[in-house]
Amino acid sequence: MPMPSSLRCDHTAAWQDLQRHYDTAGRDFDLRRAFAQQPGRFEALSLEAPYVFADLSKHLVDDTAQALLLRLARECGLESRRDAMFSGEAINNTEQRAVMHFLLRQPDAAPDAAVPGAPAWRDDLRAVQSTRDAMLAYAERLRADPAITDVVNIGIGGSDLGPQMATLALADAARAAETGGPPRKRMHFVSNVDGHELASVLETLRPEGTVFLIASKTFTTAETMTNAASAKAWFLARGGTDTARHFAALTTNVEAARAFGIERTFGFWDWVGGRYSLWSAIGLPLAIAIGAESFRAFLAGAHAMDAHFRTAPLERNLPVRLGLLDVWYRNFHGFATRCVAPYHHALRRLPAYLQQLEMESNGKRVDCDGQVLPFGTSPVVWGEPGTNGQHAFFQMLHQGTDVIPVEFIAVRRAAHDLPGHHGKLLANALAQAQALMQGQPDAGGHRHFPGNRPSGFFVLDALDPAALGALIALYEHRVFVSGALWGINSFDQWGVELGKVLAKDIEPRLASGDTAGLDASTAGLLARLRGSPAA
Ligand code: F6P
Repeated sequence: MPMPSSLRCDHTAAWQDLQRHYDTAGRDFDLRRAFAQQPGRFEALSLEAPYVFADLSKHLVDDTAQALLLRLARECGLESRRDAMFSGEAINNTEQRAVMHFLLRQPDAAPDAAVPGAPAWRDDLRAVQSTRDAMLAYAERLRADPAITDVVNIGIGGSDLGPQMATLALADAARAAETGGPPRKRMHFVSNVDGHELASVLETLRPEGTVFLIASKTFTTAETMTNAASAKAWFLARGGTDTARHFAALTTNVEAARAFGIERTFGFWDWVGGRYSLWSAIGLPLAIAIGAESFRAFLAGAHAMDAHFRTAPLERNLPVRLGLLDVWYRNFHGFATRCVAPYHHALRRLPAYLQQLEMESNGKRVDCDGQVLPFGTSPVVWGEPGTNGQHAFFQMLHQGTDVIPVEFIAVRRAAHDLPGHHGKLLANALAQAQALMQGQPDAGGHRHFPGNRPSGFFVLDALDPAALGALIALYEHRVFVSGALWGINSFDQWGVELGKVLAKDIEPRLASGDTAGLDASTAGLLARLRGSPAA
């Protein structure tokens, strides 16, 4: 089903013009020359969005590319596609679902009419608010309960990566929000079906001091169900008695949670995609870690970014500008990966979180109508915090054969008071971006750096809840933009299904040794894993 008044990028006139521009000027664009010729380049190509300042001047774009990319967005109908999402249309066409994670961060006080089409989701908004109130009241009760020392979130994918990344990112905010009550809870995240993970966490716990949050949108995911069952068995075997107090479910499938034996459930809705669910009940571990007030600030930061995306002109719209650069790099320059380098230890899980957000959303080879795409879609997104990455893969970024755009994220104010560190950290971020661009073109042989390697640079004032909320929402909307231009459905994930089905077939074969009908490689490996290599 075609999306509302949208056109796939390669069917527009702007696409042909971009190709021509790339061939005549884009391929040989040189950042050093551009800065020399355009003294105001930094001002012209930096943008202020809520809580995030972005310098895009070290990207490989000139005025013409910039203008053509904006024309591409308009010819593709990006604005109407965006408005369709915000008004609750079923833009996830393969599952016939609306995509309304933005509603989860709509503040209680904001008039719903602030968003076009608001009446369509007025009832949903009421449900969002009452669930949020109940969940935050529970989080506060738990925070105040000295008998509970540990909280274990059991979930995978979107039911793990978001809450885990944000809980780590806001550990300092959690410390600052301490009120002199009971000590903060120890937060644990268990995702893998690999029992080593759960076993190592259980080893540190006492049943009477632990609350398990079973986080699963569907409440059917094999890894989560396996871990939840083992956690419950451990709890009962170690003398735990009150499962109603020690287990809660975060899910859209209340029935299944009840069938599992969980009475306390915080729900959400099918219009919240798993990788967009951090703002829903799936955010409960974060709310327990940072408190209700900070969690509301986190939502408010994201809401501010929603408003920016919804209302800022495309020229000054940061998610739009980033999404357009992603298309320019992927489809014209042919860059297949993007490196994310957060220069903040607390953002160490951000690359992993972004991998699901971007690659599960836009890693598609057909458009919304099922037509095979003649161009590339999601880049590989990867990275590590700086400065660690500098001592690992930055060699390749500077002197390797591939050009890999880098996204630096720096935070102006540190939350520690160790002298000297923060200045060194920020200097390194600036220096790396500078080195990538300038290179050392006059040096020969092994000391030659070609330079002209692109990077973007985000600055947050502080890593506080509002800024983190805004940063994540920025990434969500940027993924929406490139997905919309590519004409794909960024909100389904059929590509994860086949492996799940095959694993169900293989699991009993590992026990029985039956290899009938398997290809020779799978059969041989199965035999090897059973300890019978000659079979
Ligand atoms: O990996 C596929 C997926 O469906 C993700 O999209 C989702 O975040 C994850 O599994 C977990 O799903 P659930 O929350 O339903 O357990």
